[in-house]
Amino acid sequence: MKPPIQNDRFLRACRREPVDATPVWFMRQAGRYMAEYRAVRASHSLLEICKTPELAAEVTLQPVDRFGVDAAILFADILLVLEPLGVGLEFVGGEGPTLRRPISSADDVDRLRDFDVTTELGFVAESVRRIVGRLDGRVPLIGFAGGPFTVASYLIEGGHSRNFVATKKLMYAEPQAWHRLLARLASITTEYLRLQVVAGADAVQLFDSWIGVLSPQDYRRFVLPHARTILEPVAGLGVPVIHFGTQTAALLPDMRSAGGSVIGVDWRIDLADAWQRLGADVAVQGNLDPAALLAPWPVLADAARGILAEVAGRRGHVFNLGHGILPETPPDAVADLVKLVHDESRTGNQTGSAFRL
Ligand code: CP3
Repeated sequence: MKPPIQNDRFLRACRREPVDATPVWFMRQAGRYMAEYRAVRASHSLLEICKTPELAAEVTLQPVDRFGVDAAILFADILLVLEPLGVGLEFVGGEGPTLRRPISSADDVDRLRDFDVTTELGFVAESVRRIVGRLDGRVPLIGFAGGPFTVASYLIEGGHSRNFVATKKLMYAEPQAWHRLLARLASITTEYLRLQVVAGADAVQLFDSWIGVLSPQDYRRFVLPHARTILEPVAGLGVPVIHFGTQTAALLPDMRSAGGSVIGVDWRIDLADAWQRLGADVAVQGNLDPAALLAPWPVLADAARGILAEVAGRRGHVFNLGHGILPETPPDAVADLVKLVHDESRTGNQTGSAFRL
């Protein structure tokens, strides 16, 4: 049996229920900016940590223990689903992910290996169980997966891309193969998220980080139906679902229509504006520029207060960055930011500076 969640303000905010203070967590909150993480990384590769449930649990707990964030996020990577497809996933030190055999044609799509998610990615379920055990109900655990466009882009580009030309070329030139590929990824991703929820994840996030490079028309035509194929059944599992992307100002209504009880937005749009475009009946996560954590404290504090002021006490806000935390981030700034968000949003403190509009 899972212990009841003691600090449930993250889950309450996802459901747009009243909270005692605004919940806060950070994308990539376990990572190289923390000495505790670097100590583990000194003797283990990223993939080793992901595949060793005890290590994955240890690094997942690091930011929870140190900063008092309101949610833990499973330590894994969105590209883990690519390895069983047989494309040769590697994380080369400092340069990010690379694939030894990226795909570029309809034939390549059809040659991707078939695999059983429960067997090949069972180590992730084991990590979830260990983390849930070690959290012992302190905060909820967020599971996650990559969104179909973002995962497809790594599969096609063989790594990170600046302009996504190879991805778009396949999408435009071989639309049928593209849809077969995304349908395949969607089915893997749905199973993968289900595995995490069944193992004990309390919420999940779909990271379709790079969808902002698409026109709204192309998003609707080439991605939205597949995102919906993932998000609909996952919503049926009864946990909050966060749907996240960057540079999505023009895509927000379509992302909302694809699904998610919470929409994650980046800093390139004012939060109030984003909420207006999304409609009031959805929760919102974001949206501090990760670089603000490198700024002098008064600048950082001001930026965080600006976000709370945009929210203006509305229900359904989860404080986060607009994208992952940067490796250069000073951990003390993270600690101070968590404290500020909690203190200045605390119910009963609504005359505080955060709400001076
Ligand atoms: O948020 C967390 O703390 C959980 C862990 C997590 C990782 N990757 C571990 C990781 C999460 C949520 C991710 C998601 C992820 N991975 C995304 C989506 C979010 C985003 O940033 O847009 C993407 C695109 C990836 C793919 C990926 N993994 C890239 C591009 C890189 C290299 C960039 C980098 O920061 O080095 C990774 C490596 C990676 N995944 C690291 C971590 C902590 C850093 C590598 C390390 O320790 O060597």
